[in-house]
Amino acid sequence: MKRIMTLACIATMASAAFAETAPDDVAFTQYGELEQSLSGQPGDPEAGKAIMVARGKGNCIACHQVTALEEFPFHGNVGPSLDGIGSRRSAAELRGIIVNAKMTFEGTIMPAFYRVSDFTRPGDAFTGKAADGPLSPLLTAQEIEDVVAYLQTLQD
Ligand code: HEC
Repeated sequence: MKRIMTLACIATMASAAFAETAPDDVAFTQYGELEQSLSGQPGDPEAGKAIMVARGKGNCIACHQVTALEEFPFHGNVGPSLDGIGSRRSAAELRGIIVNAKMTFEGTIMPAFYRVSDFTRPGDAFTGKAADGPLSPLLTAQEIEDVVAYLQTLQD
């Protein structure tokens, strides 16, 4: 009996530790930071690197130059270089910027990668006939954590 209780307890703790935060439940600090992991799990820097260069995913290098990613073509310079960004910004700041950069940079053109409401649905502005139903964020909670982990490897 005691053993079953212990196992049940461990299972509850594990599910609480891995609880994912939904896009609408994200709570920013007044500076646009997010302290907590969105997925409840650590990010994988190698996966984050792949997301940053994938056109259908982050495609961060369309706007940002990153020397460590120079083997991948088409670096844009609409945004600042991300060289050394891991020494300049905390994980909480980086997470907040990727989730919704407008919380840190008012009016920025950088897309919000983890937001599903409070913006014009694709199609609405043009035809007024956007698709109904829930939208998916551009990146999942775990993908955001992976990108944060990769950015932290970019040290001066
Ligand atoms: C459409 C262009 C665009 C894309 C795509 C984009 N960004 Fe940005 N990003 C910007 C701009 C522009 C800024 C500068 C903020 C401002 O003043 O508007 C910025 C700022 C940042 C900053 C803060 C840099 C600093 O020096 O403080 C980080 C970190 C960042 N972006 C990461 C990313 C990551 C990671 C991705 C991909 C998941 C990404 N960006 C995709 C345009 C973009």
